[in-house]
Amino acid sequence: MINFLQILVLIFIVIVNILLLTSFYSFIRTKVPYVPSSKKIIKNLFQNYQFTPNKNFIDLGAGDGKVLFEAEKNGLIAQGYEITILPYLFYLILKFFHHSKIQIKYQNFLQANLKNADYIYCYLLPELLQSAWEKTSKESKKGTIFISNTFKLKDIKPFKVIPTESPKNKIYLYKI
Ligand SMILES: C[S@@+](CC[C@H](N)C(=O)[O-])C[C@H]1O[C@@H](n2cnc3c(N)ncnc32)[C@H](O)[C@@H]1O
Repeated sequence: MINFLQILVLIFIVIVNILLLTSFYSFIRTKVPYVPSSKKIIKNLFQNYQFTPNKNFIDLGAGDGKVLFEAEKNGLIAQGYEITILPYLFYLILKFFHHSKIQIKYQNFLQANLKNADYIYCYLLPELLQSAWEKTSKESKKGTIFISNTFKLKDIKPFKVIPTESPKNKIYLYKI
C-alpha cells in the first residue's frame, strides 16, 4: 500500500519533471540555454564601467537575476525578463532571501517595453542578441547603453570593450 511519504515523493518527482520539461521546451523555443554570467565577468563589468545610480538597468533574458542583484547593489533600478520557468523560480527564492527590490517579469523580452531603459544587458547567442539590439535601437532613447557579455554585434563598433581573465569572454558596450 502507498503511504503518505511515497505520495509526497511521487508529487515531488512529477513537479520536477514538469519543470524540466517546460525548461527544455523554452530552450527549444529560444535556442538560448540558461547559463548564468560568471561572477568574475559581473565583477569586471561593475568595476570597469561607471554606472549612474538610480538609472534603469534591464537584463534581457535575466535568468535567476544574478546580474540584477549586483546592479541593485551598485545603486541601479534593476529589472529583467525571463521565459524559462526554472531560473524564474530560483529568482523568486533568491529575491525572498536577499530582501531585494529587483523585478523580473515572466515574459518574452521581444514583447517588452524598453522605452525607459538606460542600460540594457544581454548574455545571448548571436541571433537573439541581434534581435535584442534591433529592438533596443528602435524603442529606447538616445544614449541608452547596450551591454553584451561575450558575443559581439555584427557590423557595429563597441565604444568600450572590457577584457576579462579569459580572452574569449569580453564585455562589449554600445551606445544607441
Ligand atoms: C545565457 S542565459 C543568461 C542569464 C542572465 N542574463 C545572466 O547573465 O546570468 C540567457 C537567458 O535568456 C532567456 N531567454 C532567451 N530568450 C528569451 C526571451 N525571448 N525572453 C525572455 N528570456 C529569454 C533564457 O531562458 C536564459 O535563461
